[in-house]
Amino acid sequence: EKGTYPHFMLKEIDEQPLVMRKIIQEYQNEDNEIKLDPEIRKAMTDCDRIYIIAAGTSYHAGLIGKQFIEKFANIPVEVHVASEFSYNMPLLSEKPLFVYISQSGETADSRSVLVQTKELGHPALTITNVPGSTLSREADYTLHLHAGPEIAVASTKAYTAQMAVLAILAVDTAKAKGIELDFDPMQELAIVANAMEAMTDQKDLMEGLAKDFLSTTRNCFFIGRSIDYYVCLEGALKLKEISYIQAEGFAGGELKHGTIALIEEGTPVIALATQEPVNYSIRGNVQEVVARGANACVISMKGLEKKGDSFVLPQVHELMTPLVSVLPLQMVSYYAALHRDCDVDKPRNLAKSVTVE
Ligand code: M6R
Repeated sequence: EKGTYPHFMLKEIDEQPLVMRKIIQEYQNEDNEIKLDPEIRKAMTDCDRIYIIAAGTSYHAGLIGKQFIEKFANIPVEVHVASEFSYNMPLLSEKPLFVYISQSGETADSRSVLVQTKELGHPALTITNVPGSTLSREADYTLHLHAGPEIAVASTKAYTAQMAVLAILAVDTAKAKGIELDFDPMQELAIVANAMEAMTDQKDLMEGLAKDFLSTTRNCFFIGRSIDYYVCLEGALKLKEISYIQAEGFAGGELKHGTIALIEEGTPVIALATQEPVNYSIRGNVQEVVARGANACVISMKGLEKKGDSFVLPQVHELMTPLVSVLPLQMVSYYAALHRDCDVDKPRNLAKSVTVE
């Protein structure tokens, strides 16, 4: 039920802090330790490489999951778009573990890879919001997102839940391998939940940004470096699917290799600047596009902000920024679609579960 909300998408955006708290509760035992199926722990520590398979927004969550798993648990990770993997399987390592990320658990592209990898005898873990779903039933193990039903076609709370569960999984694996970490995922998720709440309270500001930057445009670019780049891919997908504005996410450093040719007077460029090591260089990219007439909207993070930034995110751990920086992108997309009279919850040509290949 939508309750007092005009759209499921807005309701689901607002539910994200609650989902974070629910995940903390579900994945923690009485001794404040991570609670996880020991079989999953074993599968994670036994493998020599992880292959994440997913589509759309879940693929974007996988790109962040790779950062968590490689940085915390020291296991190499490849992230693949399901529909490509089926026809173009890479050389596999000796002991692969396949991780399927899917909100619905019904995505046919991902299922077709699961069937193939099961035939090859490789273990599979599904991370899903629907435990009884096909991908969950057919995999060896399941991790539940606990995000509650996601009705809007545009995925929002499932994306942040996927990243939260991947962070917990990565830290659990690191601990099982005896790796010392100075990162408590539950504590960091609690900080994230508060940051999310602070942002969902600023809808007027988000609506204003949508008006200022996106009300009449036909296209929009999202730029970022390092993990901000992956969030830009998700921001662009969100904007495309619900507002029908042509949008692309780009790595800041790639602009000069071609894309900058598309910047004209008034082209909106949304830049994420949440990463200290690349703050200087992404700001350089902003200057480059502004010099060519772009209408730049910089979303930075507390501690890294500069005068003139359009929005400053509350500070969270450097690796957890995607869980908060995506919220303004979700909300700006929502308001852009609303102003253009688009069917926010049911965009044209799209279905919530894509059950055909
Ligand atoms: O249910 P899944 O997570 O497997 O769905 C994958 C994609 O179809 C899905 O994320 C799609 O990209 C969303 N509509 C994006 O908002």
